[in-house]
Amino acid sequence: MRVLVTGGAGYIGSHTLLELMAQGHVVCVLDNYANATPTVLNRVRALSNGQITDFVGDVRDAKKLDEVMAAFAPEAVIHFAGLKAVGESAQKPLYYYDVNITGTLTLLHAMERAGCKRIIFSSSATVYGEPQYLPYDEAHPTNPMSVYGRTKLMAEQILTDWVAAHADRTAVLLRYFNPVGAHPSADLGEDPRDIPNNLMPFIAQVAIGKRDVLEVFGDDYDTPDGTGLRDYIHVVDLARAHVAALGYAAVHNGARPFNIGTGQNYSVRDMVAAFEIASGRNIPTKQSPRRAGDVAAMQADASRANAELGWHATHGLDDMAASTWAWQSKNRNGYDTD
Ligand SMILES: NC(=O)c1ccc[n+]([C@@H]2O[C@H](COP(=O)([O-])OP(=O)(O)OC[C@H]3O[C@@H](n4cnc5c(N)ncnc54)[C@H](O)[C@@H]3O)[C@@H](O)[C@H]2O)c1
Repeated sequence: MRVLVTGGAGYIGSHTLLELMAQGHVVCVLDNYANATPTVLNRVRALSNGQITDFVGDVRDAKKLDEVMAAFAPEAVIHFAGLKAVGESAQKPLYYYDVNITGTLTLLHAMERAGCKRIIFSSSATVYGEPQYLPYDEAHPTNPMSVYGRTKLMAEQILTDWVAAHADRTAVLLRYFNPVGAHPSADLGEDPRDIPNNLMPFIAQVAIGKRDVLEVFGDDYDTPDGTGLRDYIHVVDLARAHVAALGYAAVHNGARPFNIGTGQNYSVRDMVAAFEIASGRNIPTKQSPRRAGDVAAMQADASRANAELGWHATHGLDDMAASTWAWQSKNRNGYDTD
């Protein structure tokens, strides 16, 4: 299929480009480099010998989108472009609503004008909020606890209403759990521009000596070691879920959410221990109080994605830690290493 990938230069998008090309899909990227660098696409090209058309532009720019649609004529869109920092979303709510909601609406209008009827959307497990039961299945009530989570849920609702009004449209809503890890080449990975918001890149920066200590938020949760439990998903598995979702979208109409996780959860201490083994380095930690809005535990019931997308996670915790360390140690300063 011809696939437009918005935000394709980002962490998950770049890994997905490789998996798409490996399966014979033709890709085009639209990215404004708000949180990425053009180096990423050069590396994807080098790893794939693949042809990537790319446009620099904002997903809120209707004229640019018309230009991309006219030049590339996508049969489907994978919509990664967006903002994702939970903490920042509370400080800059209008910015988050603008990029994540106006961006999605502007994209849908452009798809309508161009006759493109399929979209795969990057949603998030944050749409569920405080667990009423675990593992979360897709029928779990949604009650996001952050502005970011609300932008994801609202975008899901917009997409669901869009397809409900047209019998021949498809929206696949992928609710990601916690993406970690890096490409086996160690040439692609997560490259936070500032202080990492996520645990794994933070641990990696402590291991490489860029940060002194890992702050562990809360050790008094009702979990086996007192620290928070999360369902971590290797980014290559997550990338492959998008390829599976495209196959699904080729033969299904309507809107459908899918959890994309492993169904297992690990504590902060498990992650630190796995990383110490992978890197052979000691990770100093400092205990801090719980953060507002953090839940004790979460994990996915991914059985719907397993059954309907034919997708299964294949990478375990060791792979997640080892590939992150390989990427971090080969690219001390991320993509600025080039
Ligand atoms: N990484 C996670 O933990 C996680 C979890 C759940 C969902 N998601 C969602 O997955 C998507 C991709 O996440 P990621 O981790 O790869 O993030 P990322 O920041 O690495 O990638 C997002 C990409 O979108 C681009 N972008 C941002 N605003 C844009 C705009 N207005 N116009 C065009 N391009 C724009 C950025 O430059 C970047 O390349 C996001 O929508 C995010 O909310 C991420």
